[in-house]
Amino acid sequence: MRTIIEPFRIKSVEPIRMSTAEERERLLAEAGYNLFRLPSDQIVIDLLTDSGTGAMSAQQWAAMMQGDESYAGSPSFRRFEAAVRDIFGFRHVIPTHQGRAAERILAATLLAPGDVVPNNTHFDTTRANIEAVGATALDLPCAESRSLGTPHPFKGNLDLEALAHLLERPPGRVPVAFATITNNGGGGQPVSMANLRAASELCRRHGVPFYIDACRFAENAYFIRKREPGFADRPLIEIAREMFALADGCTMSAKKDGMANIGGFLCTNDDSVARHEEELLILTEGFPTYGGLAGRDLEAIAVGLYEALDLSYQEYRHASVQYLGEHIVTAGVPIVQPPGGHAIYIDAASFLSHLPREQYPGQALAIELYRHAGIRSVEIGSVMFGRHDPLTGAETYAARELVRLAIPRRVYTQSHIDYVVESLAEIAARRTAIPGVRIVEQPPALRHFSATFEPVALAAPARVPAGSARP
Ligand code: F0G
Repeated sequence: MRTIIEPFRIKSVEPIRMSTAEERERLLAEAGYNLFRLPSDQIVIDLLTDSGTGAMSAQQWAAMMQGDESYAGSPSFRRFEAAVRDIFGFRHVIPTHQGRAAERILAATLLAPGDVVPNNTHFDTTRANIEAVGATALDLPCAESRSLGTPHPFKGNLDLEALAHLLERPPGRVPVAFATITNNGGGGQPVSMANLRAASELCRRHGVPFYIDACRFAENAYFIRKREPGFADRPLIEIAREMFALADGCTMSAKKDGMANIGGFLCTNDDSVARHEEELLILTEGFPTYGGLAGRDLEAIAVGLYEALDLSYQEYRHASVQYLGEHIVTAGVPIVQPPGGHAIYIDAASFLSHLPREQYPGQALAIELYRHAGIRSVEIGSVMFGRHDPLTGAETYAARELVRLAIPRRVYTQSHIDYVVESLAEIAARRTAIPGVRIVEQPPALRHFSATFEPVALAAPARVPAGSARP
């Protein structure tokens, strides 16, 4: 069969409310043109994030009924811990309410001011938690990741030379090094087993613990199976175990490849690190047999981690994301190549090349996609990563202006994806008429969540003086 179908049937449905263009125009104005401020029941297709937005299986819902909500010693924790140990292989498993809680506890345990933490690309919460303790988060993505439109099988790889250089001549203490699989900040791109192995060896040689940010570990395992020689016949669970055997610990958001709506965990093989982390856990998250979670959440994750490693599920998921990417490229929309595991990243700066970066082309495109078709995406560009200095008025801009279309797990069908493709094709046909935006109000930090915007009238096309030749 050529068609890769959704490997599930739908037992329970959620209605989608179809809105009109006039309603969406009004909602946009009321939200200050910030898509985070929209009511989510006014969205037709929500591609804001793949985090916590997936559909759970009948098996997960059944397991949740066995959730034991005891404060201490819950069998739900034992089932959760057994699943995490089986796949990830670490000695200590510390449950948290989501990924950033694991990051915060890890940063408070391992880091001190002046330390440096390398990663292929730090996700924004990882960076923020490292910076919050006075350490520096250093991105070391491989050279291939810099060219957005050029495909490479493992664009998420760490730059090993840069990592070796850092470990040999560290500008500060390096108490931990990270690899994020897949690399969300760099386009949802995978990291190869060879790259993980080399990074792990480098770290071990220098006595630096090597950690994996494991949010999308199952998608990364699938990419390794498809693209790296020697893995074509290996079950995904074996590939996952091999990846984690290279690491000393991990942070995890179970809202992604845990297939759950909430949850996370922190793992380590180091007994004294674990003891300190559990002390912090009790202060802010809860007792070590539930972290910030209900017993039923632990049950959902214990089942979900295995479902993410199901080969037919990953085949369908990758086919779906790839289909979206390939079809919008055909419609004239430039994307980060190749398509990522959980999302497509549109290169908004080149798609809306008539807009200067001061008019936030990524935000402009995200607004237009909602205005035109009720699709919510997220800007990953200068709104998210740029800064306004309130003292000097100086603006800084991000290196890239991207719009991410993140695909929730097991939620949308092929025709939903076709609707997104069609909407983008219609927008592509009149892209030079899409106006930019300016920021009206912004908070000092994490401005993308709450800033307000307004459209900027398009400059009239430059007039060709009478008598001059057309180029
Ligand atoms: N690391 C990566 C690579 C992530 O993508 C995320 C979350 C986190 C850590 C933090 O996990 O949300 O459970 O606290 N990414 C979401 C996204 C929010 O939309 O990409 P969390």
